Parts: sequence; structure tokens; C-alpha cells
Amino acid sequence: YDPKVPTYQTSDPTSFAHKSARERWPAIITGAIDDVHRTVAKLPDSDKDVVAEGKSIISSLGSLKYELQHNRTLSPIPDDGFPDIEGYNLELAARGPPTWHNVEWLFAECYLYRRLATLFSTAKTPFWRDYDPFYRQKMETFKSSRPAVLELAAEYRGIITQIRASKAHAPVAQDVTDEKAIEEAEKLLFVEMAEICLWGNATDLSLLTSLTYEDIQKLQGSSARKQSEKNILVNDLERAFQVLNAAHREGKECRRVDIVLDNAGFELFVDLVLAGYLLATGLATEVVMHPKDIPWFVSDVIPKDFQALLQAMADPRAFYENQDHAADEQGANNNNDDTTAKTTPPAPLSDDEAAAIKFLFDDWSHLHSEGKLILRPNRFWTHAGGFWRMPHVASGLVEDLKESELVVFKGDLNYRKLTGDATWPATTPFTEAIGPLGPSSGIRVLALRTCKADVVVGLPEGKDEEIRAMKGGGGDSGARMWAWSGKWAVVQFSDGKA
Ligand code: F6P
Ligand code: MG
Repeated sequence: YDPKVPTYQTSDPTSFAHKSARERWPAIITGAIDDVHRTVAKLPDSDKDVVAEGKSIISSLGSLKYELQHNRTLSPIPDDGFPDIEGYNLELAARGPPTWHNVEWLFAECYLYRRLATLFSTAKTPFWRDYDPFYRQKMETFKSSRPAVLELAAEYRGIITQIRASKAHAPVAQDVTDEKAIEEAEKLLFVEMAEICLWGNATDLSLLTSLTYEDIQKLQGSSARKQSEKNILVNDLERAFQVLNAAHREGKECRRVDIVLDNAGFELFVDLVLAGYLLATGLATEVVMHPKDIPWFVSDVIPKDFQALLQAMADPRAFYENQDHAADEQGANNNNDDTTAKTTPPAPLSDDEAAAIKFLFDDWSHLHSEGKLILRPNRFWTHAGGFWRMPHVASGLVEDLKESELVVFKGDLNYRKLTGDATWPATTPFTEAIGPLGPSSGIRVLALRTCKADVVVGLPEGKDEEIRAMKGGGGDSGARMWAWSGKWAVVQFSDGKA
């Protein structure tokens, strides 16, 4: 069911897969080891079983890292009771089994996170069974996004208040000119919100091995966004807007938008900003968000991250002003032996800042409780393969997505999965590269993707070559290096319903 075009491999020195398998993944496992260590160190001695199991998880993580660094074969994943394990293990056997440094990139990276998840999901003590070794890191990074969060919260409150006021005073546009003006304003804001949402993806934690928190803050502010507009290589946002606007103007009763989520923290925050905007304007009557079920690619959203975000918003002062880590909620007692807790205290929030965040919390929790903002996990999102397989392995999900006006796929991994992570020429039409989710699939796709991997499609003739020739673009090394860092982006649309 996969594309016939060859896929990216960890054996290929010109692919980002090569560096990922040899440098990034060991660093990510080390991060997980450190996290579990920190938690174990804070557990009371009386929790003997939990401490012992924590130490055994640390040792299993160490073995996994050893296997990876010494190019051992990928071993079968232990059964944790979920049916996707069988799929992983069958595919592993069918592939050889392969070794870490000579395996398909997409398969191996998904395998890595699925295997990591079983170290916790097969635990005997409930403490570790639901443990997310990336939670602490996700919350820390979210905290460090404070300047951008405050800026957006104020902007969001202003926009939503204005929309509500104009709807209350002028429920129907007076004439065609009014209607056009409203439509134009809605389009501009839609494009702005969607671009915020796009660049919110530039900062995922699996790339943090090469970014500092300061780099991240710079990437998130509004001036950075303006500057980055020229880095959007293809921008189909207007087409997506036309679709939503048409459904709205036709008065279609249920106008659903789906967001296949990517990362937690700041990115989830901006996804909610977009969702709130769509619901306030009536461009959507329902927004369905699709998180992962298990910790995934370090920073991806799992349902607990959604709860944690809302909780942080509910009491922004406690979240931003309390130096003890929110992550310590994850079970371990906070006994303050952490040296990071002794740095300069964060500046207190002003009353207005706290009120703007509280406004968001009230708005989003209200939309959630009214059933307009829905969270819908599905195990398919953490399967090994690309989305070309969706009709065969998740037909129920395909039927569900057909109900939506627009399905927004966030981020790099979703894009790799849409295109099967294959070595398509960069000029391949997007609609062709997404195979069964393309024309006549019944699903309208919008990919919002900052480029952090090799695959790129739908570019105009000569564009790839032009950027390769720029500084850091890869030159004639054979590597598409410009596409690895999140600096460039594509926004691509496929009208599968036409
Ligand atoms: O490029 C690095 C990488 O880890 C890719 O392997 C993966 O596709 C991506 O980052 C994850 O990024 P995102 O969170 O945008 O999907
Ligand atoms: Mg991600």
C-alpha cells in the first residue's frame, strides 16, 4: 500500500536519517534516562517497588541506546496488550529484521518510540505505567514560551471580543459591500492564525538537541513570523479559507474542521488559538483534535498534555511564577533538591496578562464542555507506516475524516507520513504524493509543515536547486540540507472532495 518510490534510509549519508540515527536518537534516549533518574531520585525510600522498577527501566533504556549505537538488529517489541504491536513485529520480520544504521527512516523512528512506550506500558507498578518520560521537557519548554504566549493571549482576547461584539450588533451583513469586507477581514485573520499555527511547529523538542531556549523564543514572536513569511515556499491557505467560507455562507449546518495534532506546549496552544478563532467566526461549528495515545517523537500531544495546558491556563500565576517544576506533578514528591529551582525568580504576571490567559482558559474550557472542541485519539496515528495505508488499516478513521470540511495535518512527521517519506522529486504534485488521501479520497487535506526532514513535494521547477545553492542549503553534496532545520515551510492543500 506504500508508494512505489524508494523511501529515505538511515544508511544514506546524504539523508537527515543518517544523522538522526547516529546522533539525535541516542541523545533523545539519554534525555529519557535523565528524566527517569530525576524522578527516581525524588521518590521516598518507602516506595521500594517503584524505585526498583524505575531503576530497571533506566537499565532497559540504556540497553536500547547501546543496541542503537552499536548497530544491532531491531528486536521484536514486547506485547503490551495493544494490537498494533503485532503489526510492528510482522513488519520487522518482513524487513529482515534490519539493523539500526541500515533501515527505512520512517519505520525505524516510529519503532523507536513504540518500543520506548512499552518500557513503561508493561510496567508492574501503576506509577510507571502511565509515565511520560518527555512530559517534564514539554512543560519546561512551554514555560519558556511565556513571551509569545502572553503576546498571543492578548491578541486572541482582543480578536474574539471584537468578533462577539460585531456578531451581537450586526448579526447579518447589511449589504454586499459589508459582506465582502467581513469576508476579507476573516480571510486575513484566518491566514494570520494559520501561519501562527504553522510556525508554532518550528520548535519541536526532538530538534532541541541543536536549539537553545533563546532560539525558540526568537522563533515564536510576531516579528519573527513576519520575517518568515518569505520562507513559506508554497502557500495554499487561501484555498483552504475559500472552502470553509463557502460552507459557512451556504449555511451548512455542521461545519467540522479536524486538526491532526503534532506537538504539545506552545504548538498546542496556537492550535487552540486557531480552533477558537474558527469557532468564534462560524468558519467551523466543531473542531476535532487528534492527539497521540503514547509519548511520541518527544513532543507530540497526548491527552494528558491537553489537560496540563488547560490547568496551566486556569491558574497562570501558579504556573509561571512557581519555580518548582510542573512536571513534578507526575508522581514524584517535590523535595526541592533541584539546583535549577534556585535560579532568579520569574517576573510576576501583570493583572492584565493574567486576565488575558484566564480569558483563553474560560473560552477553551467552555468550548470543550459544549462539545465544540473535541479530543479524539486513535491508535492509527502511532502505527509504523505512512498515511497511504490509512484506507487499509484504519477504514473507520477514513470514514470519520470524510465528515470533515477540512483536515489539517500539523508538522513534519505528519507530512512525512502523508507522502510516505519517499524520495519524490521536489516538483511532484502534492496531490500525487499523498496517494490514497489525494483526489477523490473524500478527504480535504491541508498540510501545515515546517520542513525538518528530506521529503518535500509540490515545489515550482528550480526552487529546490535555488535553495540548495544558498548558504547551508546543501550545495552539491547531494543532501537537501535546507529542509532539515524548520526554517522553510510549505502549506499544501488537496481538495479530495472535488
Ligand atoms: O527532523 C527531525 C524529526 O525528528 C523528524 O524525524 C520528525 O519527522 C520531526 O522531527 C518531528 O517533527 P514534528 O514534531 O514537526 O513532526
Ligand atoms: Mg512532533
